Amino acid sequence: MKLWGGNYESEPDDAFWAFNQSFSFDRRLLAEEIAASQAYARALDRCGAISGEDASRLVDGLARILENSRRDPAFLEIDCEDVHSFVETRLGEIVGDLAGQGHLGRSRNEQAVTALRLWLRATSDHLLEGLCFLLETLVEKGREAAAFVMPGYTHTRAAEPITAGHWLAAWTWGFVRDAERLAEARKRANVLPLGSGALAGTALPLDREALARDLGFDAVSENALDAVMDRDFAADFIFACVQIQTRLSRLAEDLIRLSAPEHGFFGIPESFTTGSSLMPQKKNPDGLELIRGKAGRVQGALVRILVLVKGLGAGYHKDLQEDKEAVFDAAETVVNSVAIMSGIVAGLSLNAEAMRRAADQEETVAAHLAVALAREGLPFRKAHALVGALVAESRKTGVLLLEVAERVIPAHAPHLHGRLAELFDAAMATRAKRVRGGTAPEAVMASLDGALARIDAVRPLAS
Ligand code: ARG
Repeated sequence: MKLWGGNYESEPDDAFWAFNQSFSFDRRLLAEEIAASQAYARALDRCGAISGEDASRLVDGLARILENSRRDPAFLEIDCEDVHSFVETRLGEIVGDLAGQGHLGRSRNEQAVTALRLWLRATSDHLLEGLCFLLETLVEKGREAAAFVMPGYTHTRAAEPITAGHWLAAWTWGFVRDAERLAEARKRANVLPLGSGALAGTALPLDREALARDLGFDAVSENALDAVMDRDFAADFIFACVQIQTRLSRLAEDLIRLSAPEHGFFGIPESFTTGSSLMPQKKNPDGLELIRGKAGRVQGALVRILVLVKGLGAGYHKDLQEDKEAVFDAAETVVNSVAIMSGIVAGLSLNAEAMRRAADQEETVAAHLAVALAREGLPFRKAHALVGALVAESRKTGVLLLEVAERVIPAHAPHLHGRLAELFDAAMATRAKRVRGGTAPEAVMASLDGALARIDAVRPLAS
């Protein structure tokens, strides 16, 4: 059934009708559309536009539609323009002409955006729960690895020794910010548009605040025209998704590299890898590679929604129907990727020996040595140049850096003479960095505790 056509002489072109429909994808909003329609029926009753008895018949009829759809997928298979027409058509089969009264003063322009906001709120909560679980898993691994020494990298070259806990805490803090960003997007989505009509508001004396409370919205939109054309909230949500997926992709990249036999710091759980059809020895990190690959897809969704709205003036335009698939695809991709990453991190094995072996490349203590020299009174730039020269000599002659240092340093800093072996110990170098945010095990443990406290502040109430 079409919700319009009184002014038409002919039926729509078949190809255009198929092109125009959104029911194949906006049926995902069915539960939200029904909840909003039930709340609207109650609001119509409250303002005296329909009787209490009619409101109850509408609410019950709507509940039956949801039950039937859940029980029998074939119930959804009728030719409808969108989820809103579907609900009204099915409601008509149950309550007759009264179904049309549930639409009194209501436009699909506001219905579409109301249902999408409700869906985004629920999906944000679901994603936040997944993210909190990933964060807890990272924190647990970080604690386990708080004292394991590995090289930290810049430009993919070994830079300075760090603890593996420090590396895990780095990712943790990024995801803490992502969770906070998502919670902020949820707040922006949780605003009621219903009561806006097509663009001008409604002449019915609707109590929009009561309607907002009924649907669990925190606030009510302040301009009916803005309410039907606004998709900022959807773009904000997708941006929050982009940040999460981009970080997952970067973590995946590090895990792929550092779990390769050349490094061997981590072991990816076998259940998240696949083998090769030709090379019998292979166990490839496909789970991580797909997470990295899907980042492009989520970033694409953001571009899609931004470009979608950029040419639209005030008011609803059918272009806006294209918002939903971008949102659905981004949400689904990120929810799945977060779950896969949680499984991989939970099952990650930590090879402390391989980490330590790599960290024991003595050149990675160069900066630590230069700072120690400067603390003995040598100006830091001079100390930097001196250590640089020692490194060059060691490389040229093949003599160990420690031996070169033992010969040259005492002339510049006599006190360091007996301390050189300690300065060259990668583990001791990490333990020295006890500053807040530093790589020393106790600083890492404190940082991880801080991250947990921040997660608790955004955790959805239900979980
Ligand atoms: N299906 C549309 C959407 O998703 C809502 C319908 C609004 N249609 C209209 N003719 N005003 O945006």
